[in-house]
Amino acid sequence: MFDSLVDRYDVVNDLLSLGMVRGWRRAAARAIGVPCGRLVLDMGCGTGRLTEQLAERNRVVGVDVSWAMLLAARSRLAFTDRVMLVQGSAFRLPFAEASFGGAASAFVLRNLHDLPGAFAELARVVAPSGRVALVDITEPRSRLLSRAFRAYFGTAAPALGSLVGRREAYRYLVRSLAQLPPREEVRAMLRAAGFESCSARPLIPGAVTLWTATRAKMTGDLRGRLDG
Ligand SMILES: C[S@@+](CC[C@H](N)C(=O)[O-])C[C@H]1O[C@@H](n2cnc3c(N)ncnc32)[C@H](O)[C@@H]1O
Repeated sequence: MFDSLVDRYDVVNDLLSLGMVRGWRRAAARAIGVPCGRLVLDMGCGTGRLTEQLAERNRVVGVDVSWAMLLAARSRLAFTDRVMLVQGSAFRLPFAEASFGGAASAFVLRNLHDLPGAFAELARVVAPSGRVALVDITEPRSRLLSRAFRAYFGTAAPALGSLVGRREAYRYLVRSLAQLPPREEVRAMLRAAGFESCSARPLIPGAVTLWTATRAKMTGDLRGRLDG
């Protein structure tokens, strides 16, 4: 599906978020806080917008299942030699254990049917003490805001989708918003996967959440828990 969206993907995202999507990615890029020059992973890099922000401080590997998205990212990032793009799945990352000083992702989590599986993969490839910063759209807790949120996405997304000839794909976007578990549950999944100091920070009143966490050092206890 993402292959078919790539042409207008960035412009629709900018319109749908009223331009705020850039700031949300920036929040993730800042929160990762990995020392300059270290290698970080952008999981589900899409057209490479978060990758580009991460590359201001770090060397970055962008991974995505969609070949078309990776081609768009390659055009965007042609100017830098700090980025490598790889086709692969979040459920089976094609990297060795502890390859990265940290990992980030933007608007990918709700597309992943097995979040614990994806988090286990992240924990495998991020080195102990490495940080992760993951941002995605979440439903606000307040009933009023939640109603406004549903009304906005339920109408604006399919309408914009129609304009670019991809109504069905943008209907999927609306459905996918409901697929992400509540933010505290996502935080608990990160902890169970082997991360500590997990936090879930709402950006604009709860409609977007930034999760951050630190890869725990591999103690015997944790190794036993993860193996079990
Ligand atoms: C909504 S887009 C976000 C792209 C980009 N991170 C951004 O900030 O614009 C979701 C991306 O996740 C990718 N994706 C979906 N499932 C994936 C998986 N299992 N493994 C890796 N990438 C995946 C899609 O191909 C798509 O590029």
